[in-house]
Amino acid sequence: MGSAASRVSPKPKYRVSKNADKPPRGIQVFVGPYVHSVSWTEPLVVQPNGVIGVKDGKIVIVDTIENLDSLKTTHSFGDNDIVRLQEGEFLMPGMIDTHIHAGQYPNAGLNMDLPLLEWLDKYTFPLEAKYKDTKFAELVYRKLVEKTISSGTTTASYFTTLHIPSSEIMADLVEAYGQRALIGKVCMDCFSPEYYVETTEESLSGTTEFVKKILDRKNPLVLPTITPRFALTCSENLLKGLGEIAKEHDVHIQTHLCESLPEIERAMELFPQYKNYADIYAQTGLLTSKAIMAHCVHLTDEEIEILKENNTAVSHCPTSNICLLSGLCPIKKIRNAGVKVGLGTDVAGGYTPSILEAMRHAIMTAKTLGIEGKETEPLTYREALYFATLGGAEALALDQEIGNFQVGKAFDALVINLQHDLSPVDTFPEQEICDLIQKFIMLGDERNIIKVFVSGQIVKSF
Ligand code: GUN
Ligand code: FE
Repeated sequence: MGSAASRVSPKPKYRVSKNADKPPRGIQVFVGPYVHSVSWTEPLVVQPNGVIGVKDGKIVIVDTIENLDSLKTTHSFGDNDIVRLQEGEFLMPGMIDTHIHAGQYPNAGLNMDLPLLEWLDKYTFPLEAKYKDTKFAELVYRKLVEKTISSGTTTASYFTTLHIPSSEIMADLVEAYGQRALIGKVCMDCFSPEYYVETTEESLSGTTEFVKKILDRKNPLVLPTITPRFALTCSENLLKGLGEIAKEHDVHIQTHLCESLPEIERAMELFPQYKNYADIYAQTGLLTSKAIMAHCVHLTDEEIEILKENNTAVSHCPTSNICLLSGLCPIKKIRNAGVKVGLGTDVAGGYTPSILEAMRHAIMTAKTLGIEGKETEPLTYREALYFATLGGAEALALDQEIGNFQVGKAFDALVINLQHDLSPVDTFPEQEICDLIQKFIMLGDERNIIKVFVSGQIVKSF
């Protein structure tokens, strides 16, 4: 698969199973509690006595302990194939980050003083320009892939930068570490600093080259995604050309939409012939069922309808929306209108690469809207879990493969333990699995994520 091994070697900080590059042969059967989402309207199902069987990376059994003996016969496994979860442990699906800027990771936690457009000019473009240097890219991207895996992100949709060689290094690293990822080389051909811009032709030919390079790896875990930065730095010709490339190769698309009010005003100055901001992307072929629009804080009802008609997803990035003063996104209204929704960290607009924190901020954003009288219902921790798992899979149009525990899907999963010596969370007698999952969402961190599986392969063991 590609040339990952020749360019980068995995040197994880945490312990990785000796079998890291070889999932166990035969069946592996996990016995213990699991939680997952079944749908937006059934966002949390708890099975305290679960049995999940995994073969060749795929889920082949989802059942309960009372049927364990008969399952042994029908699926030909024995006690040696069983992994029993310890007291206090439970399984959940891997978390999905539908929007993260890999190149911005060095700025995570910094620069909380400016709104979007000023923040881009002062802090973000100068940092992204540094990825001409592939050594710098390898240093940053390795740390980020380690951190996201450690934080329980089994799938991420990454923006890199304009540069193809360093974007390939990102692909090498996710391959080497075994994470599932979409990777997009950023495109911008106008109204950008002279030190960080491409011509339309360079952007289009570079995108085609990058898409082909990623597809040629034939690694089902690593996919290319077409990535116009946003309407403010892309000409109409570039947007249309990128729409055509996405159609030709049937690949994903990611960009930013209606993030801040000054951004929307500028978009409409630049594209006055379009009905609204969403219409700019709709008319240029960028709103597809494999497209993910980040933020969408200030969508009009008409724009929500456009996203729904095109089956285009929203990446809700609540941490970033507060840090960059963009606004409070009424995400339940958008989801209830029938639009697919996942969560994004939007590092470094968001200060943390943790989807757990994105869940918390989604919950707090909905509460704040409630205080302001703008969102009538709170977002429950169950719904936040849905956004972080199955909702994210739907947003990335990968819900046939990942997002929950269903026979036929890949085993992308986390083993959570709140009760070990290094846990930051205290639990108490009689607290049940529902309490544990809620405490994990509100109080947990990577120390509670003791194992991470992607496609049945252990990629973290704490
Ligand atoms: N809009 C255009 N580029 C960016 C970016 O890098 N981060 C965020 N949050 N919004 C953007
Ligand atoms: Fe972003």
